Amino acid sequence: MLSRGAASGWALRGAARAGVQQRPPPFRGLHASPRTRSVMPSWVIDRYGHNDVLRFTRNMVFPIIHFPNEVIIKVHAASLNPIDLRMRSGYGATALNMKRDPLKLKSEDTEFPLTLGRDVSGVVMECGLGVSYFKPGDEVWAAIPPWKQGTLSEFVVASGNEVSFKPKCLSHTEAASLPYVGLTAWSAVNQVGGLNQSNCRGKRVLILGASGGVGTFAVQLVKAWGAHVTAVCSHDASTLMKKLGADDVIDYKSGNLEEQLKTLPLFDFILDNVGGSTEKWALDLLKKWSGATYVTLVTPFLINMDRLGVADGMLQTGVTVGSKTVKHLLKGVHYRWAFFMASGPSLDEIAELVDSGKIQPVIDEVFSFSEVPKAFQKLEGGHARGKTVINVISKK
Ligand SMILES: NC(=O)c1ccc[n+]([C@@H]2O[C@H](COP(=O)([O-])OP(=O)(O)OC[C@H]3O[C@@H](n4cnc5c(N)ncnc54)[C@H](OP(=O)(O)O)[C@@H]3O)[C@@H](O)[C@H]2O)c1
Repeated sequence: MLSRGAASGWALRGAARAGVQQRPPPFRGLHASPRTRSVMPSWVIDRYGHNDVLRFTRNMVFPIIHFPNEVIIKVHAASLNPIDLRMRSGYGATALNMKRDPLKLKSEDTEFPLTLGRDVSGVVMECGLGVSYFKPGDEVWAAIPPWKQGTLSEFVVASGNEVSFKPKCLSHTEAASLPYVGLTAWSAVNQVGGLNQSNCRGKRVLILGASGGVGTFAVQLVKAWGAHVTAVCSHDASTLMKKLGADDVIDYKSGNLEEQLKTLPLFDFILDNVGGSTEKWALDLLKKWSGATYVTLVTPFLINMDRLGVADGMLQTGVTVGSKTVKHLLKGVHYRWAFFMASGPSLDEIAELVDSGKIQPVIDEVFSFSEVPKAFQKLEGGHARGKTVINVISKK
């Protein structure tokens, strides 16, 4: 795999590849696509609701390359995240529709039929004319932003900037479990929280909700960077947490969690995957006036826009996060919100950690493509221990 630093961008990716291969771009005739198909199998929804809105169709429109930097990926495996459940029920529709159609050029309900699923591990089938870093046949992985058509389909289109070479040591099934949760944890811990390989050693990190998709990734990430990790989860997940490298494991169901955590030394960093009342007391567990930071992934950002509309929702969000940030800053700690961010370069770094054995996929259950509604049901039941994966191409 080509190695690039965190700051490496698209230009560097292209240059790196050009430097290695030194070959002219492949000839493209009038027909940019070798395919003749116009439809494909896909799981879609035509309205928001419960599991019964999921519909299998063989006639979903085949993805089209609209921009020169896009690639079409043949999906081998996908996985589910809590956002898929919520999007199925309409969560975030106001903001996501604004992103899909900012000038409101189309009629209402333009998002339907909508394909859910954010993660993909698969093979590049076709590249836009501006893509030099990937070529058809490359094994790749990606997490697709929620305003785009998802990965519970035979094919998906993605911006080349969102795609990365799949870790060599993982099967497609394993690889599909990581991109969305990995990039979310990366955004929270590294981009928002400021932790990295060179400043994390010895830091005390608390991860609330450590047994789910994001948590199992985050525990391994900060452990790989040398942190002391305290994981909060249910009792039955404690063996898994120890296996992933957690130094202390606290069962949030065995008595008052706040009191249990108060008996431990203060923390440098808290990642909150649980939200709710947690943030009322969790910031008191941070070291004061030392740059210690609390980052939560559970925010009202999209809900505010669903509830209040775009303008008022954004205003409400700004006031909420601004006032909380200032309130906690005055007490000597940092309060931050983090969000999933699609990024091929960040996935490159994650792939290196995976291939060097520092991060491993944690898979709760694998479903076949015909079992997508069953997989959603499983996710709805909660108590995830890692990820729910869908094999889009059946494994013999
Ligand atoms: N802001 C963003 O862009 C973004 C991106 C990704 C995820 N998220 C959010 O981040 C959260 C975590 O995502 P995920 O993918 O890791 O979810 P997940 O896979 O469903 O995992 C949630 C985990 O939390 C555990 N849990 C539930 N209540 C808990 C509590 N009070 N204390 C400790 N653990 C608890 C659950 O197991 P038990 O119930 O058995 O304990 C489960 O293992 C979700 O709310 C998700 O919506 C936000």
